[in-house]
Amino acid sequence: MKLQALTGNHVRNGFDCGVEALNIWLRQTALQHQAKGISRTFVAVPSNAEEVERYRLAGYDDLGEASILGFFALASAFVLADDLAPELVKRYPRQIPVTRLGRLAIRSDLQGQGLGRLLLADAVTRSRNAALSVGSAGIFVDAKNSAAAKFYADYGFMVCKEQPLKLYLPMW
Ligand SMILES: CC(C)(COP(=O)(O)OP(=O)(O)OC[C@H]1O[C@@H](n2cnc3c(N)ncnc32)[C@H](O)[C@@H]1OP(=O)(O)O)[C@@H](O)C(=O)NCCC(=O)NCCS
Repeated sequence: MKLQALTGNHVRNGFDCGVEALNIWLRQTALQHQAKGISRTFVAVPSNAEEVERYRLAGYDDLGEASILGFFALASAFVLADDLAPELVKRYPRQIPVTRLGRLAIRSDLQGQGLGRLLLADAVTRSRNAALSVGSAGIFVDAKNSAAAKFYADYGFMVCKEQPLKLYLPMW
């Protein structure tokens, strides 16, 4: 697969990750927010026609080169240092700029095959590169549920104080 910035050419309608709010956001909001600079969405699509063919042979016959396999969105945000994990509070001033990983989702029928991990790694790399030009202390995520929170925690995200679905990964 390859990762691209979302455009109107990507097929957003067929995407289903099993969480309707995320499907609808991709379909209806992602491009609008992008046009206004509110967030940037990146999508994973098959690398080329050969990969589409491999998917077809594996039974995924609705996939084309513009089909979205998964996506995530990044935006800027501020958080209060007091809300972070207790061991981080002293590191920062009262309010800090962060990069918000707003949404991360993989097509239901491709979940559990390592795509989520790849997209998360790409989101972290992009966030860190952007933070070399515009300050951002870490990546903040609002997990949809405890399973999603565990997914992020497994990759080093730290649970915020008294908010088990909010997690933070220091970048520096
Ligand atoms: C959460 C999600 C993005 C993970 O993507 P994925 O491609 O299924 O995950 P991967 O195959 O890369 O799995 C990576 C690791 O996370 C674990 N994992 C995957 N989904 C998980 C879940 N729902 N809960 C807990 N752990 C999970 C896997 O076991 C794997 O661990 P391992 O490397 O030790 O085997 C995907 O399941 C998804 O889109 N879910 C629906 C939307 C959603 O809830 N998004 C989160 C919004 S906050």
